[in-house]
This record gives sequence, structure tokens and C-alpha cells, in this order.
Amino acid sequence: MATLLIRNIGLLVQAEKRPRPVVSGAEMAKLPVLPHAFLLAENDRIAAFGPMERCPERADTVLDATGRMVFPSWCDSHTHLVFAAPRDEEFVDRIRGLSYEEIARRGGGILNSARRLRQMSEDALLEGAWQRLCEVIAQGTGAIEIKSGYGLSVESELKMLRVIRRLKAISPIPIKATFLGAHAVPEEYRSRRHDYIDLIIHQMLPRVAEERLAEYCDVFCDRGFFTPQETERILQAAWQYGLKPKIHANELANSGGVQVGVANGALSVDHLECVGAEEIALLRDSPTLPVLLPVCAFFLGIPYAPARQMLDAGLPVVLASDYNPGSAPSGRMAFVVSLACIQMKMLPEEAINAATLNGARAIELEADYGSIAVGKKANLFITRPMTSLAQIPYFFGTDPIETVILNGRVWKQP
Ligand code: NIG
Ligand code: FE
Repeated sequence: MATLLIRNIGLLVQAEKRPRPVVSGAEMAKLPVLPHAFLLAENDRIAAFGPMERCPERADTVLDATGRMVFPSWCDSHTHLVFAAPRDEEFVDRIRGLSYEEIARRGGGILNSARRLRQMSEDALLEGAWQRLCEVIAQGTGAIEIKSGYGLSVESELKMLRVIRRLKAISPIPIKATFLGAHAVPEEYRSRRHDYIDLIIHQMLPRVAEERLAEYCDVFCDRGFFTPQETERILQAAWQYGLKPKIHANELANSGGVQVGVANGALSVDHLECVGAEEIALLRDSPTLPVLLPVCAFFLGIPYAPARQMLDAGLPVVLASDYNPGSAPSGRMAFVVSLACIQMKMLPEEAINAATLNGARAIELEADYGSIAVGKKANLFITRPMTSLAQIPYFFGTDPIETVILNGRVWKQP
């Protein structure tokens, strides 16, 4: 048995005696912490933690975390990590005044990414995605979700999902895969969108299910993309194949996405920049989780989701990166936490809960990830020297992470 001991931890964060599945509303302002602590991992799991007075004498590997904090790894429940190329020309077009929706209407945006992905080999896509996965792991992510949605044809959607499957096989962190065939209507179906939805339902979904390529099914339910009625058809078909919905909703308009997500038992509805009291009330009465993606609002210059109102309504707010080439070209979860605090007025404790335990819940990994608890996987990070929790969002330009530990071992960038 391999053991790893971290001694003299200044502050052990999100350390739970009794693990909770999720934290909601007012509870989110509380974060269980332990000052002057130790943590012991045996093989890949957390075996013990507590005050330094009870620290074990030895272990195979001993790390000293004097003046530092230890966190459970971030759980990033919404990314588009597999893509062919950046879209920095569109970034410059937006600086010059075009909007995200105008670029999409001209055949840019998601369709631009689809054109490029279709031309790229599975191996080349895997190489790029692997580099980005290593990048976010170095930035503290210890569990992640990845979507398809830049293929938009049977073969290319399957290609993307196979890339995710190959990533799963080599990844040191768990990956959940989401099928997002309904990300945009591809060019060749522009005048017959119904046929594209039929293609998703009758050709793509059966293949995805047959090859067990995804756990979840997503639809971009928003103005200019898919309507609530179209979304419902796709989600109901997805359920038939055992794929739970996890959808993009209410980014560009109050589109009815929250209603259709809740009505169809979505695990989460993600984005929510455009929601009102009605949508918040609906979420309060359902198990569907609200996932907020503040980097997208930051990068596109659109309004932020009303996180405070959601917290005041008692919702279990989740934060994720949305890492993608169009609206959020960054998977750095510490920056997501900074934006949540600076722009959405979440307290550091609330933002950290949202990016760890609640993030794990949004990909159904809360039994093994998202907090420091005995028996959970030892995926965690040691910060640089820091004296308070608030310094994580406060030093928004500094990477707070010094050492990454995955499966009970120190992780080194390959
Ligand atoms: O979550 N909104 C839809 N999908 C992505 C953006 C995709 C893209 O622009 O490539 C998002 O923001
Ligand atoms: Fe997204």
C-alpha cells in the first residue's frame, strides 16, 4: 500500500466529517475548514485527516504545506474541450462590433468549429484535447465533463465522442461524456432543420447508445438555435436510450430552456444568463441544478446570471468553465471562482462550494469527488503560500496552485 501524508496544512478546505451530496442556498456560505491540519492518503483514497496533534509519524511520501491551503480538486461540469482550432478571428470581429449571434448567423461560430473539426483526424483531435486536459489538470481540475457538438454529422459526432472515450482511457481524472448533436443546425440542413432533428433522433442517438459513447445528452435550447419543442423531442428520445439531459439554456434569451429542462428531468440547466423570478422558482421546486458559466458572460460581454437571486431562493448553484473556442477559451477554474465573486457577488465560500462539491454533483461524481472526506478519491491541490480563502478569488491573475495530487500521488505535467 502506498501512503502520502501532507503535514502542517495552514487550512484544510471543504473537509467534511459527514459527506453531503450537495450544498444549497444559505448553506453555501459555509465551508467546512480545519486549521493546522494533516491529510493522509492510502493508495488513491483519502484515509484520514485531522488536527496536526494527531498527525501520523510517517508515510511513503511526506509533503509539508506550512502556510498553504489544501483544497479538493475543482470539478468542472461543463466543457467543450475537444475542438479543432481556436477562433481568435471571431474574437477580433467581436471587438470591432459584431455580436456572437451575428457571427453565428453568418456561418461562423459553432459552424466554423464544425467545418474545421470535420477535416481533422481523430488522432489530431485527441492530441489537442489531451494538451488542454493536462492544462486544466495543472490548474487544479480533478473531474471533468466534455461535450461533443462540433461534428454535427453522424460520423463527426461519433468521431468527437470517440476522442472523448480515448481521453477517458488515458486520463488520470474522471471524465463524463455528453452528446451535443443539437449544438447548431449544420449548413447542409439550414433549409430543412426538421430533417436534422430526425437525424439526431434516428441516426445519432442509437449509435451513441450502442457504442456507449456518452452519459448525457445536451441541446443548445436558445434563440437562433433549438426551440423548446425541438429540445423536448430530442431529450425524450435521449431518455429512451438512457441518456440523461444536461442542457444549454437561456444564454441569449429567456428562451423557455429552463422550463423544458425541468419538465424533462434534466440533471442540470447551464448558462442561465437570461432568467427571471419564474425560472428561479421553477428550479427551486425541482432537482435540476443551475450551472453558471461566468467566463462566457465575461468573454462575450453579456449580462451575468443572477447568482445572488438564485442563492437567496435556496438553489444549489454550480460553477463551471464552459471551456470552448467561441465563448470561453479558458478552463481555469480559479478564474471562474474570481469572476463569480467579483461579478456575480458570490462569497468566496459560496463560489468554492459551487466549484467543488456542487460541480461533482452536476456530473454525478459527488460520492467520490468534490470534498475532502474519508473514503473519497485523493484528488486535491496544495496552494502557494496564502493566508485566507478570499485570496483565491482576490489574486485573480495568479495561479493559486503549487502542487496537484491525483489518486493519492503527486501529479507532474507529462
Ligand atoms: O456554452 N452556447 C453554446 N455553446 C457554447 C459555445 C460554443 C461555441 O461558440 O463554440 C457555450 O457558450
Ligand atoms: Fe457550453
